[in-house]
Parts: sequence; C-alpha cells; structure tokens
Amino acid sequence: MAKIAPLAPDETEQAIDLWDEANLLQPWNDPRADIAAALACPSSTILAARDGGRIVGTAMIGYDGHRGWFYYLAVARSHRGTGLGRAIVTAAEQWLVGQGASTIRLMIRAENEQVAGFYRALGYEQGNLIVMGKRFGQG
Ligand SMILES: CC(C)(COP(=O)(O)OP(=O)(O)OC[C@H]1O[C@@H](n2cnc3c(N)ncnc32)[C@H](O)[C@@H]1OP(=O)(O)O)[C@@H](O)C(=O)NCCC(=O)NCCS
Repeated sequence: MAKIAPLAPDETEQAIDLWDEANLLQPWNDPRADIAAALACPSSTILAARDGGRIVGTAMIGYDGHRGWFYYLAVARSHRGTGLGRAIVTAAEQWLVGQGASTIRLMIRAENEQVAGFYRALGYEQGNLIVMGKRFGQG
C-alpha cells in the first residue's frame, strides 16, 4: 500500500498535475495558493500517497473549530479501484478527529455526482442542505 503522509512543498506541481488529471482544477481557484495556505495553517494539511516517489493520491483537509472538511480528494487513474481512495479518506478522518473534529463534511460538484457512490461506500450520508457561498477574490 502506498505511503500516506503530508505533501512536501516541492511536491506541489505533482499534486496539481494529479488534480488536473482528476478534473478538480477550477479557473477561479489558484491551486498553488491553495496548497501553500493549507500547508502553512496548523489546522489544515494535504495528505498525499506516493508510489515509488510519485504522488498518486491526495486529500486537502482542514478543521474549522467545528467540523472537518475535505477538498481535492484525488487518486491517479492508474491507481483507482485498488482501495487507495478509502485509505486516504481513513487517514484524513484520523487526522481531523485528532484535531478535534466530531463530524466531517465535503461538497461534491453537481456534475461529479457519481463520486457520491464512493463516499456512500465509506459510510457517508447525503445531508438535506443547500450550500451557499460568497466570493472575495480568488480561492
Ligand atoms: C473518488 C476517487 C478518489 C475514488 O478513489 P479509488 O481509489 O478508486 O476508490 P477505492 O478503490 O478506495 O474505493 C473504495 C470503495 O468505494 C467504492 N466505489 C468507488 N467509486 C464508486 C462509485 N462511483 N460508486 C459506488 N462505489 C464506488 C469501491 O467499490 C470501493 O468499495 P469497497 O471498499 O467496498 O470495495 C477516485 O475515483 C477519483 O480520484 N476520482 C476523481 C476525483 C474526484 O472526483 N474527487 C472527489 C471530489 S468531491
């Protein structure tokens, strides 16, 4: 099984390549700024799985003092269906619970709804929620 540990700053470009392959990049998000901010903040991190030094999975996670949140969960196409996504989510859950989180939330873009099946397989339930947001610059 691939080793899962925090992303190192010099692995930034590999993580972005993975997110590109996984279709997670959005024109309004700056992934380099997202990575730098997540690694700089003590209550957030990016867990990464490596296979022979290559980044093959990631999850950006953060604890906001109330809940834990997941972002940028991705597994390389070459490694999907092998249990790596489950292993990354399990490691992310352990990290967030260690920070003090008692619930975890994540948002799924409507056009990516099929990933809900993955989360259901891991015990996640769909909430009866309307997600709203307001933008202040990029991010
Ligand atoms: C979602 C993703 C991370 C899953 O990674 P993965 O390594 O292929 O998943 P795993 O092999 O660990 O699968 C874990 C379980 O979920 C199940 N599963 C995976 N995708 C599923 C789906 N679409 N529907 C139903 N079940 C699914 C697997 O069958 C497996 O079940 P099991 O453990 O009982 O055998 C991967 O498909 C991915 O990177 N997708 C693109 C990026 C993305 O959409 N990220 C989420 C943004 S919200």
